[in-house]
Amino acid sequence: MCGIIGYCGKQAAAPITFEALKRVEYRGYDSAGIAVLSNGQLLVKKDIGKLDEIEAKHSLSSLPGNIAIGHTRWATHGGVTSANAHPQYDSSETVAVVHNGIIDNYQELRKQLASNGHHFASETDTEVIPHLIEDEMKQGLSLEAAVLATAPKLEGSSTFLAISSLDPGKVVGTRKGSPLAIGIGDHGYFAASDALAFSGQAHQVIPLADTEVVILTADGIEFLDAAGNKLAKESRDIKSKWHDSHKQGYQFFMLKEIMEQPQMLEAAATQDRELFTKIALDILRAGQVIVTACGTSRYAALVGRYLFSKVGKKFCDVVMASEFHYFADSVDKNTVVLAVSQSGETADVIEGVQMARDAGAQIVSIINRPQSLLSEMSDHVIYLNCGYEISVPATKSFLSQLVIFYLLSFSMVNSFDEAVNNLKGISNEVTKAIAWNNEPLRKLSQSLKDKDDFYYIARGINFAIASEGALKLKEVSYIHAEGMPAGELKHGTLALIEPGTPVAVICPDDYTYRETLSNAIEAKSRGAYIIGVSDKKNDIYDFWVKIPKVDELLYPIITVVPLQLLAYHLAVSRGHDPDRPRNLAKSVTVK
Ligand code: F6R
Repeated sequence: MCGIIGYCGKQAAAPITFEALKRVEYRGYDSAGIAVLSNGQLLVKKDIGKLDEIEAKHSLSSLPGNIAIGHTRWATHGGVTSANAHPQYDSSETVAVVHNGIIDNYQELRKQLASNGHHFASETDTEVIPHLIEDEMKQGLSLEAAVLATAPKLEGSSTFLAISSLDPGKVVGTRKGSPLAIGIGDHGYFAASDALAFSGQAHQVIPLADTEVVILTADGIEFLDAAGNKLAKESRDIKSKWHDSHKQGYQFFMLKEIMEQPQMLEAAATQDRELFTKIALDILRAGQVIVTACGTSRYAALVGRYLFSKVGKKFCDVVMASEFHYFADSVDKNTVVLAVSQSGETADVIEGVQMARDAGAQIVSIINRPQSLLSEMSDHVIYLNCGYEISVPATKSFLSQLVIFYLLSFSMVNSFDEAVNNLKGISNEVTKAIAWNNEPLRKLSQSLKDKDDFYYIARGINFAIASEGALKLKEVSYIHAEGMPAGELKHGTLALIEPGTPVAVICPDDYTYRETLSNAIEAKSRGAYIIGVSDKKNDIYDFWVKIPKVDELLYPIITVVPLQLLAYHLAVSRGHDPDRPRNLAKSVTVK
């Protein structure tokens, strides 16, 4: 989490850095700041709040100078305070640093530095970095030499950028764990946690590898390895542009991303048949198949588990990525691990995949963002092709993940083309599910916005959709919600149903219909307000979310869409920003 930016060039750095920070605000948004070098002077402005709020208060973007570093924070060490916001600086206020990661040994380092006379102004782990650099620079080292000397002392993950008034004219950065992309533009050079930050400004990108160091000046970039030797690195063209990521008239990215799902489905289904057939064969031959993922991606994997079993007759287990390492003992070279991650950066997923790789397992990743850490660790990568997903809640990436699992399961029975064919009409059906329900759900959200609890139930292949519907609601509306298999309700949770409690029943007219309906009736008998998501009307529904009829294996792609809309409208009707829910961030790069 946290977004970091650096710029060195011929134009005013602060406005460029501010705009770039806005594009990585999805990585954290509890506080932000910018440090610049102007006429050899280091100037820092930072505060708590979202970027626009800080800009209104402190005019971050009017700081002078052509060199800047910036940060948008998701707090890990130290509360959300102005002192803990980045950039962090040293005792003499000559070195400023922005950091993404967690320094595991910061307490020891802090103690040592304090005993040598350093004073700390924040509770952050980051603050040790400028103090360590300060010490090195006092010995006469250049900023890059000081960064090279400091980086090995930091345990854990630490990708950071530094500037110093003692060695002005440059930004120096290094990476360990969290990503750092270097951009080449017409008027200057960039470093950022995500190339999205400078797309439109830069035309080429170079990813930095772990332990490498980059030096940005107004005249060029230089790369060093951990020993300080110069490195030659190849750049590639930036294809996607930031303008792809504008809200296009929607109030929030979440709604825009829900609405563009029909188009995305086609892109997700445009895949390499050979690759899918190879991966499917490996899955069939494997001694065991484990899918690992977090949050929404894990719910897509749970739908995948049903598809693998129903179509490919292959059982696989889905293990929450944060729990994966507790199962690592059973992973071996006969294991195929499927890692599902929109960002390809999630620390829990990365850790599990690293362990599985070390144990000799084959790694297949299903990722949206290109050039991610996860792609570097995988034997095969399948891309979702759904474009940038800016809003923190995952929506279009989830639908694309479902498409990938559908294609993989059909590839197991050598029917990739049939799957592609089956998916052809699905975009129209998703369009119908949106058109039929968007306005009615907006109205429903007005009447349900003061409810404290929601429950979501479903069976079989739709069960994970109940969990996903509940997760979406919690994330963006802050209403307590639980999703579970419909048959499980009577084993405890039914005790919580009171007159008027909303229960969303995902009840398509498929092999789960009768039993799910019967569980809904049990809830209704206790006074629940039943929201029926179904292609078949039933009198027990207090509110019917009508969906189109599709093949039973494709229902998850349809049923989840109204639940995304319900969560969105509830968030907005409660006055929340669904794109930036409190306490969350889009890329969870800490464990
Ligand atoms: C929910 C959400 C999160 C992510 C989870 C995994 O809307 O966005 O639950 O799904 O943090 O993220 P990725 O898929 O990037 O690994």
